[in-house]
Amino acid sequence: MRVLLTGGAGFIGSNFVNWIIENTDADLFVIDALTYAGNLDNFTPSVWGSTRFHFIKGNICDSDVLYPLLKKVDYVIHLAAWTHIDRSLLDITPFIETNIKGTGVLLEGLRKYHVKRLVHVSTCEVYGEAKYLPIDEQHPKEPLSPYAVSKLAGEQLVQLYQKLYRIPVVILRPFNIFGPRQYPEKLIPFFIINAMLDNPLPIYGDGTAKRDWLYVDDLPPVIWKIMEMEGVDGEVLNIATGKGMTINEIADCILNTLDKPKTLKRHVEEREGHIKQLIGSYKKVEQLLGWSPTVEFNQGLRKTITWYKENREWWTKILRRDSYRKFVKSWYKGRIQLRL
Ligand code: TYD
Repeated sequence: MRVLLTGGAGFIGSNFVNWIIENTDADLFVIDALTYAGNLDNFTPSVWGSTRFHFIKGNICDSDVLYPLLKKVDYVIHLAAWTHIDRSLLDITPFIETNIKGTGVLLEGLRKYHVKRLVHVSTCEVYGEAKYLPIDEQHPKEPLSPYAVSKLAGEQLVQLYQKLYRIPVVILRPFNIFGPRQYPEKLIPFFIINAMLDNPLPIYGDGTAKRDWLYVDDLPPVIWKIMEMEGVDGEVLNIATGKGMTINEIADCILNTLDKPKTLKRHVEEREGHIKQLIGSYKKVEQLLGWSPTVEFNQGLRKTITWYKENREWWTKILRRDSYRKFVKSWYKGRIQLRL
């Protein structure tokens, strides 16, 4: 079996690559533009040593690079995206380019080069503020950030191409994923690293915003299973835990585990459009695939903290880069002073 993974050098992608090489016999093609978030250090030595792993540096908007790959494969898993809400509030352009145009270029390619299934990885952000809990797949979609709008547009293109051209697709909407190799702009790695460096932890508003946190290792089995499953074309599935944690609770857990003082917590200016509650129902995916989350939040957080402690070189390299420093400076300026 031959599989193409777009955006495979990012956080979710690279954890997935490591899992695929370890747990399946598939030949894996990975295309990644290696923007600020893609990182070749994310692949394990056994991935690099595998003859089944093929890495192609390229942008999904570039059909000259993408289409020859589509010709070769049986399945496509589409993860390539700009994903950070805060960045999308500073500059919308790359979100439109990758998340909408890139998805369009991929879909046009799939009209010509047929595959058995496209798994399109979307996001819970398409729902916007919860009107009821837990959020199921029928919940209204009222996105509240440029990122979320771009992901909803991408999803709608995928649904349209399924209807018009019978492209066999499944759409997944994961809630907040965390774990090793997550770029240190997202809440959990950002707070772990700040705490380790005795930097303050900037909490937006009063810190009561709640998210549904799924440990990254719980994701690969469900993506793989749905990819191969017959009779599910056009389905949309949440991937969630059904439980919520506030930002305050997460900051406390991180500080406790690292034995750092609570005084590192700082309440800063609220984020525009900050959603109060995003907690998902995983009933549908459980009924369809028998999937449910296996890693408890505290267990996942401990594993994540251990990984960041043991892989200091991985993140200090990122912290030194201009792309990181520039973003942190422009986003947090006026909110908080951070030593970089
Ligand atoms: P994040 O990990 O960026 O994911 P998302 O915004 O897509 O949910 O943020 C998770 C939550 O943490 C969200 O409610 C925003 C909040 N947050 C802070 O309070 N401070 C921070 O510095 C960051 C990065 C996030």
